[in-house]
Amino acid sequence: MKILVTDDISQTGLEVFEELDDVEVSVQTSLSPAELLEAIADADALVVRSQTNVTADVIAAGRRLKVIGRAGVGVDNIDLEAATKRGVLVINAPDGNTIAAAEHTFAMMISLARHIPAANRDLLSGKWNRKRWVGVELRGKTLAILGMGRIGTEVAKRAKVFGMQVLGYDPFLTQERADSLGVVKSTLENAIAEADFITVHTPLTKETHHLIDAARFQTVKPGVRIINCARGGIIDERALCAALQEGVVAGAAFDVFESEPLDADHPLRRMENVILTPHLGASTIEAQENVAIQVAHQIVRVLKDEPFEHA
Ligand code: NAD
Ligand code: MLT
Repeated sequence: MKILVTDDISQTGLEVFEELDDVEVSVQTSLSPAELLEAIADADALVVRSQTNVTADVIAAGRRLKVIGRAGVGVDNIDLEAATKRGVLVINAPDGNTIAAAEHTFAMMISLARHIPAANRDLLSGKWNRKRWVGVELRGKTLAILGMGRIGTEVAKRAKVFGMQVLGYDPFLTQERADSLGVVKSTLENAIAEADFITVHTPLTKETHHLIDAARFQTVKPGVRIINCARGGIIDERALCAALQEGVVAGAAFDVFESEPLDADHPLRRMENVILTPHLGASTIEAQENVAIQVAHQIVRVLKDEPFEHA
């Protein structure tokens, strides 16, 4: 049996494959699309993170392919329709990186509120500007969370501890769950209009693509700060740049982008009051071990014809 691994995943996860008899684990990161088509030809399983684009052509080229494991949450880099048509299972690790992503979101929010990256850059360049970097407190501010799933919920819990008022928008948020979290169940319009900070935690779908676009930026509270640690494209980057330039948005912190890696000359790179990280939400030792182990165990079960979860 051959397991092809095309993105970096934790060694602890790879060791799980030793449970299988007679298995070859082939780790080949940075493959070109043509090399990937060749490498997948004799693979029984494929393991990826978000970097490998698993297209219909890749799935078709995997003549022995039974299962694709995504060491993480979002499966938007995998052509699910093509996998379903060919009977290839797609398995993810839905909760292994929840805390890492929630903590990264919080780090972004505090960094925005207190200008930490900009003040750091300034100090390293030899300056000592105490007046320039006066921030705001989180206590007493309103945070809108768009998408109250696993990560949104963990962000809400942390925001409550910081004394924030939390507005939650999610079509599946029940009044009982909102009450138990101390979150005000809100409409999208109300959440966007009332918030001092907005953070998005939905998947990227047709409905959430440009959920915050130029028209929505007209309805925000002036001075709002915006965070996207979910998926590039939920917030319209071009509209965001315009809103930052007009001063309607006071700051933005983005971990994910409409196109990754972010272009060297992307306008966001030239904006003031912007904090950018290169898709690091899940990049903790703990989260990477969790997702790799979760997904590897499920793949082993599939290859042994045993019951599995998270397909
Ligand atoms: P989840 O499935 O637990 O939660 C997503 C929530 O979004 C659900 O509650 C769902 O009801 C809600 N939702 C769906 N459509 C919506 C809409 N139109 N409006 C409002 N809410 C809507 O997922 P999660 O684990 O919390 O992950 C959230 C996002 O974070 C995903 O996009 C995931 O890929 C991303 N993520 C990013 C990183 C990173 O490295 N930056 C790490 C982990 C997850
Ligand atoms: C995810 O969806 O799990 C994240 O984008 C993190 C990752 O790709 O590792």
